[in-house]
Amino acid sequence: MLSEEQNQLLTRVGPGTPMGELLRRYWHPIGGESEFEKRTTKAVRILGEDLVLYKDLSGNYGLVDRHCPHRRADMAYGMVEECGLRCSYHGWLFGRDGKCLDQPYEETANPSGRYKDRITIKSYPVRSKGGLLWAYMGPAPAPELPDWEPFSWNNGFRQIVISELPCNWLQGQENSIDPIHFEWMHANWSKRLRGELGPYGPKHLKIDFREYEYGFTYNRIREDTDENHPLWTIGRACLWPNAMFTGDHFEYRVPVDDENMLSIAWFFTRVPKDQEPYEQNSIPVWYGPIKDEKGEWITSHVMNQDFVAWIGQGRISDRTQEHLGLSDKGVGMMRRQFLRDIEKVRNGEDPKGVIRDPTINERVPLPTIDREAVTEGMTAEEIKAGGALHLKRFIFQYGQPEAVRLLQEQAMGIAQDSKGYVDA
Ligand code: FES
Ligand SMILES: [Fe+2]
Repeated sequence: MLSEEQNQLLTRVGPGTPMGELLRRYWHPIGGESEFEKRTTKAVRILGEDLVLYKDLSGNYGLVDRHCPHRRADMAYGMVEECGLRCSYHGWLFGRDGKCLDQPYEETANPSGRYKDRITIKSYPVRSKGGLLWAYMGPAPAPELPDWEPFSWNNGFRQIVISELPCNWLQGQENSIDPIHFEWMHANWSKRLRGELGPYGPKHLKIDFREYEYGFTYNRIREDTDENHPLWTIGRACLWPNAMFTGDHFEYRVPVDDENMLSIAWFFTRVPKDQEPYEQNSIPVWYGPIKDEKGEWITSHVMNQDFVAWIGQGRISDRTQEHLGLSDKGVGMMRRQFLRDIEKVRNGEDPKGVIRDPTINERVPLPTIDREAVTEGMTAEEIKAGGALHLKRFIFQYGQPEAVRLLQEQAMGIAQDSKGYVDA
């Protein structure tokens, strides 16, 4: 349970709020590179700021204020140029660094006035990695954009799935350190959703949470595993400050504002050895719906089930009304770390997990429960015979477009079944 003040402190993300300032010390994914194969601009709202992400004619990405500083027109309807984005209302042009580069009529009427030198648009740096586009919205100098090792794994079919959820980001992130929910939400509830009353999945017997440099792991022993199992010896990774790495995919919980978040997930599906070498030139990005045609939340896939839990907690969960138990030890550790990090930022220090040294930012390894399966791979026969359902169809989120399903099928060389409830 938190006090009202603590809950506000941990959930408010706008400019100048303590948590907003803390989150602005990290790079955040805000979209996918392949989205810009078909468009030049994209309106985004991140950390309570309305912005426009664009790719200019030189292939560089920029992120600027949604509104033109001239008379506030919508820059999402601007025109990209060789360098920068031009407002379509009166033609003012802005570079990636926010400088005004051209004011067509002002320069014609008063060329020596150089009015443009006194005008800037708010701008933030953008970088690409792993097919994602990342923004840094904090004070200069920007830290390193983490080069997590999975982004350079080979022979994988990768895809990026984005959904906007009507809830605060912290509800998503507290799910990154919550082992018990797998048993109930994914194993047992999935069974009930299929109309089966049992038998339920293996019970958790013991859980543990361990700090590592870039977050915490959660570790577990279930009825069907022991202390030699990688779920106990390695665990899954809660990644600081707002992501989870499960061993083959990342889930980022990006704050849109106090009451909305983006789920941006990056998936790596190792192709069978028989399909090597597999090169993927463009990583598909798709938007996952969260409601069905009746207006009810979709519950058929793992992450959709998580979304139902987070959204169900309310726009901003009222943590003054909680009753935490032994299962929530990790949630408590996470909250206390955020409170320590807020203090660090107040004192001008870097919070947990920020990477400044470029020499360590090369293929940074993360706790990975089944490294061999993702790096070495299996044969198609082994996959067909084994129980790794996620290699046979995309189980994580509802709504994979047919075109992406076919790409995955081609990459895997295994017929991809697109239907059915989750088997956890
Ligand atoms: S409002 Fe953008 S150039 Fe006038
Ligand atoms: Fe989950």
